[in-house]
Amino acid sequence: MLAEEVRDLLAVQPGETVIDGTFGSGGHSTLLAADLQGRGKLIAIDRDPGARDYFARFEQTTPAQTRFLRGDFSLVLQQLCANDVKADAILLDLGVSSMQIDTPERGFSYAADAPLDMRMDPSDEISAADLVNEWPEKELVKIFHTYGEERYARQIVRAIVRRRREQPFERTLDLVDVIKHAIPAPARFGEGHPAKRVFQALRIAVNDELVSLEDALPAAVDMLRPGGRLAVIAFHSLEDRIVKQFFRAEAKGCICPPDFPICACSRDPEVRLLTPRALRPGTREVAVNPRAASARLRGVMKVG
Ligand SMILES: C[S@@+](CC[C@H](N)C(=O)[O-])C[C@H]1O[C@@H](n2cnc3c(N)ncnc32)[C@H](O)[C@@H]1O
Repeated sequence: MLAEEVRDLLAVQPGETVIDGTFGSGGHSTLLAADLQGRGKLIAIDRDPGARDYFARFEQTTPAQTRFLRGDFSLVLQQLCANDVKADAILLDLGVSSMQIDTPERGFSYAADAPLDMRMDPSDEISAADLVNEWPEKELVKIFHTYGEERYARQIVRAIVRRRREQPFERTLDLVDVIKHAIPAPARFGEGHPAKRVFQALRIAVNDELVSLEDALPAAVDMLRPGGRLAVIAFHSLEDRIVKQFFRAEAKGCICPPDFPICACSRDPEVRLLTPRALRPGTREVAVNPRAASARLRGVMKVG
């Protein structure tokens, strides 16, 4: 996704160290590794153990040095940073991969009957079923409303709570059925699949995606060498807002309250914005891959 734009933004040179924080099936890594021209290093991170199989294939065809680290990118980046690892280019391509959505038994899809799971890392403690069956009504309304922008969050949660008292949710289609019946009939036919927004909200909550992003961004900037580049692709407006505000604050430097007459913090800008406005996929890419429609790419370069 946004492959050429990412490649231009990160402008990887032979001999550099590249970190792909969201390896997935290795599409971006393959392009970035090609720019290393056999010299340099690519560190691949993914919290999903399934990414390791794709990495094994990638490793065989990549002449540069490669390494796979499984875990949440926020933790892995912080650990690399603590070990003084420096990078020249870092990519975070947020959200779920096509591989995850298209593997029904992972429970990410509202279109297939499967266990209601949605954990990117299956060893994490809380699945979507735990959340739906155990979280207080108020919390569920909050996440459906904020992470899913679901207009009928209250009605859906009331129906969920009624059903879970009788029988806990186990399967994706049980939840889809309850959602369909909870929303007014006309809404079932507009704005995509009626369960799309609730499934998105659950996935973000189960994987604590926004917290990971907030923790990862400072670690990523910290570990960049001067002149190093960081690119982030976001799919959700909340993610994109976190990235935009973080990049702007780091590019500004000064953190004094706006009513201070002169700067008292003496903080210098950490980065320069490479994308004053987010880059979006062209119509041709969206036609081929409709999932790309909501993608937003932003990038910065470390100054120093
Ligand atoms: C959109 S896909 C990346 C696709 C990849 N760029 C490619 O070209 O194949 C997102 C990937 O990031 C992983 N991921 C999402 N959040 C993560 C996190 N906090 N830490 C590590 N991996 C994460 C997911 O498991 C998924 O494999």
